Amino acid sequence: MGSSPIDVRERPPYAVDQFRVKTEYESDLESILISEGEIENRVAALADDISEEYATRSGRELYAVCVLKGAMRFFGSLTPQLDFDGAFSEGVVRADRYSGGEGADRTEVRFLERDMIDGKDILIVEDIIDEGRTLRAILERLDDYDPNSVEVAVLFDKEARRAVDVDIAFTGFHIPDEFVVGYGLDYDEEYRNLRHLGVLKDSRL
Ligand code: IMP
Ligand code: MG
Repeated sequence: MGSSPIDVRERPPYAVDQFRVKTEYESDLESILISEGEIENRVAALADDISEEYATRSGRELYAVCVLKGAMRFFGSLTPQLDFDGAFSEGVVRADRYSGGEGADRTEVRFLERDMIDGKDILIVEDIIDEGRTLRAILERLDDYDPNSVEVAVLFDKEARRAVDVDIAFTGFHIPDEFVVGYGLDYDEEYRNLRHLGVLKDSRL
């Protein structure tokens, strides 16, 4: 649906000192993968794609759901730019993945307002898809409800690591298999307020 994702997998990254980065983060970052400006530009294009998609649907009662906490920044930039003729509301979902030992992997999914889901066109807004387990768990949880439709918007896709298949309607960027932080994404709750998307040094992981 809509515009193509931007593929930065083969693109040389930027040097950290080419950007204004909080001093305390500088030495932890390997590189800057995508600048804030590029991200914002792509979010605007995604907003157009999403607006166009929902403008053509009947019913048009969009309930955009932010996957806490990593997608907060993406969500906060995206939803004010949506423009279509229909009802709109916002919600949040929390998904906590517990990966234990051998094969023990479960994700606890909690929608904050469960009574908002039935009958709505649900748009799940997520920061990054990696193995796909988190989004899969969220989508499976929605089977317990009766939404009109369900779509997913993801800002960053690390496709190389996919373990379970997830249908994504709106994708921002294809990124390489690196641990990335910034623009809302964290490592151990750090770096969410880094403006750009940066690659964390292996020595920090
Ligand atoms: P999945 O279930 O493997 O698709 O993982 C998705 C979740 O893992 C995301 O919602 C993030 O919270 C987290 N995650 C995966 N890769 C990264 C990364 O490179 N940086 C920060 N968080 C990540
Ligand atoms: Mg997340």
